[in-house]
Amino acid sequence: MNPVKVTPETIRGMKAGRRRIAALTAYDYPMARLLDEAGIPILLVGDSLGMVVLGYPDTTHVTLAEMEHHVRAVARANPSALIVGDLPYHSYSTTTQAVASAQRLVTAGAEAVKAEGGREILPQIRAIQAVGIPFMGHLGMLPQHVLEEGGKYRIKGKDEAGRARLLDDSAALAEAGVFAVVLELVTPPVAKEITAQFPFATIGIGSGPDCDGQILVTHDLTGAFPWFTPKFVQPKLHVGEDVRRAVREWADGL
Ligand code: KIV
Repeated sequence: MNPVKVTPETIRGMKAGRRRIAALTAYDYPMARLLDEAGIPILLVGDSLGMVVLGYPDTTHVTLAEMEHHVRAVARANPSALIVGDLPYHSYSTTTQAVASAQRLVTAGAEAVKAEGGREILPQIRAIQAVGIPFMGHLGMLPQHVLEEGGKYRIKGKDEAGRARLLDDSAALAEAGVFAVVLELVTPPVAKEITAQFPFATIGIGSGPDCDGQILVTHDLTGAFPWFTPKFVQPKLHVGEDVRRAVREWADGL
């Protein structure tokens, strides 16, 4: 467990001190407690819970009420880790809606919120921060836009136009003063460039080793959702297989 409460300032300090930042998703009380006891400084209540917990085909089905429910469960663990709540699809379309949604997640126990997008959501980011809620960005492959991308999770920054877009979006988020940005499926050289150029902490997922930190969906790391594992994850456990074996042994022994 981190000896003191982790805040966005802690994360800024970790970037400045070149200390690697580990982040994982947590959607419920026991996992939040376990990850916190392991000293993970950022717990993201990600809308990936829509797939790995709720059984939706993608994150576009997740509602704000579902996010609040899971943020409350994580907050009951009272972690030293910073609790970041994901704003779900269509919950931050206007500045008024973004502030109201972010406040609902904070009331549920989030200490910062995350939303997907760059310059196009700058007014929403500024409005959220103006009411005192710290903001984490999310650039690169944006899962909430997967349907617009024809259902494919595509790597970003592969050509010069893609690189320029990512750098411009990063500049917008830096201008807004966000403390951290998730870089999802960004080509490693572009992720490295963003990490070197901007003051926010970059938290990579499938974006190479040169980000300030890394985040994974905990179910991918532990094999707890064995029907799909992203190519860039090497599971450290095989919980799904272990559960099948253990319950089989128990049932066979009746
Ligand atoms: O929803 C989520 O879990 C995320 C991570 C994959 C970064 O956004």
